[in-house]
Amino acid sequence: MGKEVRLDKFLADAGAGTRSEVKKFIQKGLVHVNGNLIKKPEQKIDKETDQVVLAGEEIGAAPEFVYYLLHKPSGCISATEDRKEKTVMDFVPDKRKDLFPVGRLDKDTEGLLLITNDGALAHNLLSPKKHVEKTYYAVTEGKVTEEDVQKLAEGIDIGEKKNTLPAKLEILSVKEDPENVWKSEIYLTICEGKFHQVKRMMEALGKKVVYLKRISMGSLLLPEDLKRGDCRLLTDSEMSLLRKIQEKP
Ligand code: URA
Repeated sequence: MGKEVRLDKFLADAGAGTRSEVKKFIQKGLVHVNGNLIKKPEQKIDKETDQVVLAGEEIGAAPEFVYYLLHKPSGCISATEDRKEKTVMDFVPDKRKDLFPVGRLDKDTEGLLLITNDGALAHNLLSPKKHVEKTYYAVTEGKVTEEDVQKLAEGIDIGEKKNTLPAKLEILSVKEDPENVWKSEIYLTICEGKFHQVKRMMEALGKKVVYLKRISMGSLLLPEDLKRGDCRLLTDSEMSLLRKIQEKP
């Protein structure tokens, strides 16, 4: 990345306000660069060496890469923009233009979704060669059985060229709901990321998924206190878990 950036972009990227807010700050004479008052938003600055002060407060450059953890709610799509639908980016407080979701969750799926601008990391996490484990909590119609556990452990046909890789199915409960429909609660851990994979795997066993939530990716867990629609930066310890996934051979 080049070191030279427009002053308004530098301030907006650093979180000082939206692009139009910071333009106003600059035009009002609230911004000094290396002690000089600058009133032109388009003024180029060196983000590594120039000192930028807004209303008496020094503003540090935004980090090159940022990593957000979103608890995706249902009803939004995993895309950066869409003319009709709400996207996962609507929940990210940071309005940098280079952010994108790492992989996709269906519109009606909830749970852990990483949002970053680090393309290399995203590539690593999504690479089929890395076999990063993703665990989902799901509710299905019908009675999930030990036979299903066995079948998923061996790999099943979901209409792709090859059977699915071995997956871990844990049955949490099998019970009749108030409308006398049998429902099963499960955890399913897969290390692939095919389109609608969990739904198709369960469908192949005759069990329709009626609720789906991703609760982990590698050793990164969806925090219990992160509410649906909440999005925050990864903590240092979460960052090191993420790097471990990446380092896997
Ligand atoms: N599998 C699915 O079927 N849907 C998702 O959103 C994620 C995994």
